[in-house]
Amino acid sequence: MNLEEIDRAHLIHPITEFRAHEKKGATVVTGGEGIRIHTAQGESLIDGCSGLWNINVGHGRREIGDAVAKQMNDVAYYPGFWEFSTEPAIKLAERLANTFPSDSQLDHFIFTTGGSDANETAFRLARTYHAVRGDHGRKKIISRAHAYHGITRAAGSATRLPAYHIFAEPDPLHIEAPGAYCFRCALGKTYPDCSLDCADAIEATIEREGADTVAAVIAEPVFGTGGVIPPADGYFQRLREVCDRHGVLLILDEVITGFGRTGKWFGMETYGGQPDIVTFAKGVTSGYLPLGGVGVKRPVYESLRDRSPEGLPFMGGLTYNNHATACAAAHANLDIIEREGLVENSAQTGAYLLERLRESFGDNPLAGEIRGSGMMAAVEWAKPGGTEPAGQTPMAHPAAICSQARKRGLIVRALWECLAVAPPLCTTCEEVDEIIGILEESVAAVRA
Ligand SMILES: Cc1ncc(COP(=O)(O)O)c(C=O)c1O
Repeated sequence: MNLEEIDRAHLIHPITEFRAHEKKGATVVTGGEGIRIHTAQGESLIDGCSGLWNINVGHGRREIGDAVAKQMNDVAYYPGFWEFSTEPAIKLAERLANTFPSDSQLDHFIFTTGGSDANETAFRLARTYHAVRGDHGRKKIISRAHAYHGITRAAGSATRLPAYHIFAEPDPLHIEAPGAYCFRCALGKTYPDCSLDCADAIEATIEREGADTVAAVIAEPVFGTGGVIPPADGYFQRLREVCDRHGVLLILDEVITGFGRTGKWFGMETYGGQPDIVTFAKGVTSGYLPLGGVGVKRPVYESLRDRSPEGLPFMGGLTYNNHATACAAAHANLDIIEREGLVENSAQTGAYLLERLRESFGDNPLAGEIRGSGMMAAVEWAKPGGTEPAGQTPMAHPAAICSQARKRGLIVRALWECLAVAPPLCTTCEEVDEIIGILEESVAAVRA
């Protein structure tokens, strides 16, 4: 059997229809360089979504492989439990304390294997924080409509995209509040006349549930999987005030927005969020090895330290917390981001990407909104003047564009009614032109 046949016979793919996959077969990726991947079928494809928004430094970075090989041969892994530690983990925590804005006071870190378990850990820390302060009732987590926070039990419950709950209802301790989504405002308002009522709706949710039952609000600075939806100006400042008024912790999920995606190191810098706890993953290693993490603001850490009963450890632990080799991959990846100025490139080339999308599709009557933040952008398709799907069925239109783009050598992603583009942060303006050229042809082909 060749690889494609073995894949059909034995491998399950996430977010993939079993029947359709068996019919279509796998695309076997054999390598890559810069913004392109190579396949066993001999294709060279532009990775227009950086894998899953994570391959920030692009493909084929041998120096990350070299750093990983070296660490593997020194000490590949030892549990981070109890007093045990390794140099890459210690130095990564120190490095991140210096990379997050200094006024954020985020200076204690625990590393996980990805974004879902980072959010699980954040919820556990938030509940523990309240419990050791005597607030045992504060267990609920509020997340927003359109949010994606992962797929494990608690993170999956915080995810508020209905498709993820078809066979898995959210845990009742997870409460939904309206999201900040101006194009489809759930409150029927328009910015700025709305006075940020969607942020106040979170306050109303806290009050309805009873503040003494709420541990934290979690929010992505920019909704990613929800459709690349940046917040209105002032939203996160208002959310901070709401959380402060009710003693609720604010968790920012920077799993996509972290490490340069929005044109600054972190989405909190782009949008002015001030979290008590931050979670991250993806761009911290650009996917060269799995790693995520949680950062805790100093006063929250100090409460956890000083108010926990004597002898009671923090009861959160994953076998692979603080993994030495994954942390070594993060260092090599962050070296590249710093050395090559990829955060700045994300801001500049990302602005060019958005401008080119607007030039190409701004006059298209089905392009309801074209929006972006650094090197992540989306065209939301809708029937003229409204928000109804542009295709015959939901998602049909963006999915058709994606499949036309794929035939022309570009991987982009359909997210609900949106076409998402988020290439690696090392993308050049010439490569943006190439992406736009393929998208123009793809949209024209779908129209025809
Ligand atoms: C904002 C956000 N949070 C959390 C996650 C979950 O991360 P992971 O898939 O690494 O568990 C994702 C994944 O796409 C994400 O986009």
